[in-house]
Amino acid sequence: MSQVPLPITTLFAPDYPIMTDRLRLRPFSRGDVDAVYSYRSRPDVSEFLFDQPMSHEECAEAVRIRAGQLAFSGEGDKILLAVERQDDGRLIGEVSLIWRSVADRQAELGYILHPDAHGHGYATEAAAALLAFGFDVVGLHRVYARCDAKNLASAKVMQRLGMREEAHFREHAQFKGRWDEEFVYAILESEWRQSR
Ligand SMILES: CC(C)(COP(=O)(O)OP(=O)(O)OC[C@H]1O[C@@H](n2cnc3c(N)ncnc32)[C@H](O)[C@@H]1OP(=O)(O)O)[C@@H](O)C(=O)NCCC(=O)NCCS
Repeated sequence: MSQVPLPITTLFAPDYPIMTDRLRLRPFSRGDVDAVYSYRSRPDVSEFLFDQPMSHEECAEAVRIRAGQLAFSGEGDKILLAVERQDDGRLIGEVSLIWRSVADRQAELGYILHPDAHGHGYATEAAAALLAFGFDVVGLHRVYARCDAKNLASAKVMQRLGMREEAHFREHAQFKGRWDEEFVYAILESEWRQSR
């Protein structure tokens, strides 16, 4: 009887928690619902996100899903981590990396912080740690991020990370009932290594 070869799956996962100078990036857990609700329920936080402000129940469901978003094993997988401040242990936001193409080694970066934690470089610090994971551990070739053209705070995070503006789309899609205007920024592995 011939044997059916087993599919080869590679699992890429950071060593948790990821420690940066001031932050601890860790998996979400059930106890995080109130902290997530404190920022994801806010209209100012969701203004440029695809999501609307979330109810407590929606946050509970999001946290349940996020608790399993810890590793890359195939295209479309997402690593979505809680960003905790080391000095007071407060959960101040989230950072994510989505494996968009396995063959082309491409991923998409994302970040959301509670407004109380803006203006300290925490988003850049957390995102830089996921870039390092993507390039050093997963072996990515290019990481990109997108933001609404009015979301200057997000564009500045991408610039601080060393990403280049690659596209400025105008009216390429509908966003919350109006035409969208979007920036795409990206960084190649070679550019990332040069900038270190
Ligand atoms: C996008 C977002 C995460 C940016 O937050 P942020 O606090 O501006 O970004 P950072 O954490 O990198 O902080 C950078 C700011 O801190 C300042 N800063 C202070 N100390 C710093 C330090 N040690 N290192 C770096 N920056 C520091 C920087 O000067 C900068 O301020 P500036 O923009 O006035 O020049 C935040 O606006 C947000 O969560 N928005 C809602 C969700 C969202 O839109 N997400 C992105 C979707 S595309």
